[in-house]
Amino acid sequence: MSVETWSLKETPKMDEEQFILWQSLLEDRTGMQLSNQRKTFLETSLTMRMREIGASSYEEYYERLMSGLAGEVEWATLVDRLTVQETSFFRHNSSYELVEKYCAELLEKANEKLHIDIWSVGCSTGEEPYSLAMLIDDLFLQNTAPHYFGITATDISLPALSKGRQAIYGARKLSLLDAELKARYFEKLDNNRYQVVPKLRERVCFAQVNVRELEKAPMSDMDIIYCQNLLIYFRRWRQREIVSRLVERLAPGGILVLGVGEVIEFEHPLVKRVQYENTLAFTRKMA
Ligand SMILES: C[S@@+](CC[C@H](N)C(=O)[O-])C[C@H]1O[C@@H](n2cnc3c(N)ncnc32)[C@H](O)[C@@H]1O
Repeated sequence: MSVETWSLKETPKMDEEQFILWQSLLEDRTGMQLSNQRKTFLETSLTMRMREIGASSYEEYYERLMSGLAGEVEWATLVDRLTVQETSFFRHNSSYELVEKYCAELLEKANEKLHIDIWSVGCSTGEEPYSLAMLIDDLFLQNTAPHYFGITATDISLPALSKGRQAIYGARKLSLLDAELKARYFEKLDNNRYQVVPKLRERVCFAQVNVRELEKAPMSDMDIIYCQNLLIYFRRWRQREIVSRLVERLAPGGILVLGVGEVIEFEHPLVKRVQYENTLAFTRKMA
């Protein structure tokens, strides 16, 4: 490809061999499978990034990614471009209902101060962990005892995590949110933007965790692990492997909430299925 053609802003075609190389790189580092149908998406995303940094071919860019520390820094930007970060507040109603029911039961049983630990895995830009935070804070408000909850929100994408920390969302993102929750948990900023109130932000801690490397993650004894719309990008055997690692991080009696249909016929000696309509969840057996 000549420099002139490049500057005409065409997206260069990637040959089969190169495509396999990029697919393998992505799957090896993130676990995500890039289907053949998404080749154009890969070409466009890479081309955009290559223009930004002045790389002139897929080969040259690949070499850069492989080159030590600079390559690692570049990878952090690229992985953000190649992952799907679509999300919304209270994205899957029934799953949140199940979490609410579970927390209400914990509250009922608690005869002293209650502490709930939650982990949102693949949290994207924060809508999911803040939905969980709103739900639990709202539940605690109805109760006079001084209860506590903490949410660890993790993702592979650093830009997504940074947006989550800022907790600023456009009005459109909040349009389907219950008016009372919106009034209680968001402050209006300029330009039709809203920010999650400090009281809720303080409860959510964002950190980078690659689910391919869960052995490095320090989380344990979680009461709720919430992982949705992430495993769909993984091969079946990897999904099972990740879900098994998550199960091991549950506290006895804790629940793992996945997306409906995201993992098929999963079984593990530590957990049993939670029966709740239109959900896929497991609870860790008591020790
Ligand atoms: C479609 S979003 C889902 C967001 C949220 N859980 C929801 O259901 O609305 C998928 C998220 O998974 C993240 N992700 C992809 N691969 C990952 C990996 N290997 N480790 C951690 N997060 C990953 C992406 O960056 C993205 O933010």
